[in-house]
Amino acid sequence: MNHGTLIFVGVFLTFSSAWLGLVFFPYQQLGSITPQVDEVTGAVNPAPYSGVELVGRKVYIDEGCHYCHSQQVRGGYWNADLKRGWGPRRTVPLDYVNDNPALLGTMRTGPDLINIGARQPSDEWHYLHLYNPQITSEASIMPPYSFLFERRPIQGDPSPDALPLKGKWAPEPGFEIVPNDRGRALVAYLKSLDRTFDVQK
Ligand code: HEC
Repeated sequence: MNHGTLIFVGVFLTFSSAWLGLVFFPYQQLGSITPQVDEVTGAVNPAPYSGVELVGRKVYIDEGCHYCHSQQVRGGYWNADLKRGWGPRRTVPLDYVNDNPALLGTMRTGPDLINIGARQPSDEWHYLHLYNPQITSEASIMPPYSFLFERRPIQGDPSPDALPLKGKWAPEPGFEIVPNDRGRALVAYLKSLDRTFDVQK
């Protein structure tokens, strides 16, 4: 055998084993996962995203929320994700069937968000927190996303969606702060993040 053939075979084996390990076997194991349907209630888990939730997911990506937040709860005795209350169980591949791409994240400057919809179901809390995180979480280092809101003069009755801002956060008299379309979509997405269902064996 001359060296050229040897090098070719070596390179071929290196790339084909990497392809088998990283693409083929994972695809065989995970490629056919479909959402789980509860036989009793008929509920589909994880529930498909609605249109507005998908728009909110884009806002989440555009604004780089995943630079500071992960979306994965790890299990095992060596880490504290479950003790921190980030979910009732570790996350599994099924949790991400509707996610393309899955926003697993690599940094945890802030808490994990895969179950934030279950942990924090209040629209009002999310709006106040996004408008300025220090309103709900004093000393928070999360940046404010006040550009997801509109400041406008109150016309007639105040809007039911106006933020209940007090003290130094309140707008001048006669004005109100309401979420804009991107803000509403983002909060719809955050509330859809709930992977607390039981995984059927
Ligand atoms: C620079 C890092 C950083 C970025 C970027 C960031 N966050 Fe945060 N986030 C934090 C930190 C730190 C906290 C914890 C303090 C707090 O509650 O504000 C937090 C908390 C949160 C919480 C509350 C979590 C809980 O368990 O109470 C939510 C919800 C949240 N962030 C959503 C978002 C969204 C949505 C975006 C993108 C629009 C975003 N964050 C961008 C750092 C960040």
